[in-house]
Amino acid sequence: MSKTTVAQATKGASGESITITNNRTQESTTLPLLEGSMGPKVVDIRTLHEKTGYFTYDPGFISTASCESDITFIDGDNGVLLYRGYPIEELAENSDFLEVAYLLLNAELPTAAEKRKFNDSITTHTMVNEQLTYFYRGFRRDAHPMAVMVGVVGALSAFYHDEVDIHDPRQRMVASHRLIAKIPTIAAMAYKYSIGQPFIYPRNDLNYAENFLHMMFAVPCEEFKISRAQARAIDRIFILHADHEQNASTSTVRLAGSSGANPFACIAAGIASLWGPAHGGANEAVLKMLMEIGSVDRIPEFVARARDKDDPFRLMGFGHRVYKNYDPRAKVLRGSCHEVLDDLDMENDPLFKIAMELERIALSDDYFIERKLYPNVDFYSGIILQALGFPTHLFTVIFAVARTVGWIAQLNEMTEDPNQRIGRPRQLYTGHKTRRYIPVGQRG
Ligand code: SDX
Repeated sequence: MSKTTVAQATKGASGESITITNNRTQESTTLPLLEGSMGPKVVDIRTLHEKTGYFTYDPGFISTASCESDITFIDGDNGVLLYRGYPIEELAENSDFLEVAYLLLNAELPTAAEKRKFNDSITTHTMVNEQLTYFYRGFRRDAHPMAVMVGVVGALSAFYHDEVDIHDPRQRMVASHRLIAKIPTIAAMAYKYSIGQPFIYPRNDLNYAENFLHMMFAVPCEEFKISRAQARAIDRIFILHADHEQNASTSTVRLAGSSGANPFACIAAGIASLWGPAHGGANEAVLKMLMEIGSVDRIPEFVARARDKDDPFRLMGFGHRVYKNYDPRAKVLRGSCHEVLDDLDMENDPLFKIAMELERIALSDDYFIERKLYPNVDFYSGIILQALGFPTHLFTVIFAVARTVGWIAQLNEMTEDPNQRIGRPRQLYTGHKTRRYIPVGQRG
């Protein structure tokens, strides 16, 4: 049988290699090391099975790079996060979400003309097909909005089935713009449906963040006054959540896309994965935890529970697979918390005080120090979102609105990768060896 030849890495060959030797058979195999522009080198194991018959084993992908990517870089030990090389702190301070979306999609910051053209394209795609409003009526009013998002976004492909050829760059660009433009509209509609208020149409005279606040909180009976400070805060939250390398939901989107599934179905899969409390659902879980703690003097009780191996309780908003230092997004959000609460005259917000004291205690506790558990992006975002008037069950929806552009950028990058193949991991099988069928009358 002809052996499948694996296309060699088009870039990254470092000239270095490592050799692994089986200590029983003394058989050795040499594998090349690939080097990127930043971060750890990788062992190119694509020929390992062909050469040795062995698989690698890495549940949770703790030591595994699933792809090459130029989009986002994280240095977890030093708390660094770059979008296309730009530090997240500088983008959060100086940019706006649609400019960051352009950067993630196109690899460069836009010129003024490019920015105007991109913003206009997004603005003119914000409405959804009126038929889509009927999808909401199939849900109970108290359905979790993430369930609604998974259903409605997945259904979008039914409205564009003649324009989802992901191998056509123009169709990919149109689908990307449609998703970025419509996701806030769909999210706001999920909220309006849950409170029995009429859907509010997008307005083309508002920027992305203002439009979202307007669709969320305006009512037809009176003019809605948008706070520029609140729009700035939600825009910054969108920037901070836009992309994050190969996290669980992004890996879900890539795996779904590797089969050729259409972009709408892939983004719906990403939303489903983000929903989990260990991932994007953590911001909602953080606020529930702070409410359960209820007062500063109960913090030690909860820190003790988090340390207790027999107690499944974890301090939500702490810890991260990659960051073994302070999540740079949490640092920015901590500052935004102060700004938003001051702006809203809520600087004595009890939950914020509990959060600040919990952070202080946890960061001095040896259990957290030994495990390098720091506050992550979800620790402060919930406090800001609640102060801005968002209900807790909308927090992960807002994370999904922001992350949609990251998912799309990563999906497009994978689709354009000449080395791309369908994702199909193998396993270490530990089940029964071959055995014979026994007719039911002869079983014990
Ligand atoms: C996001 O991947 C991304 O980039 C995600 C994200 C993104 O932008 O896409 O950054 C967004 O999902 C942030 C994470 C939000 N989740 C939470 O805040 C939930 C609480 N955190 C944990 O569930 C946990 O820290 C994870 C899931 C975030 C990371 O899990 P890992 O890397 O698999 O680490 P682990 O579970 O193996 O923990 C290592 C040790 C364990 O103790 P020991 O077995 O060594 O004794 O640390 C402990 C864990 O018990 N630990 C915690 C803890 N997190 C880890 N103990 C108490 N409280 C916690 N929060």
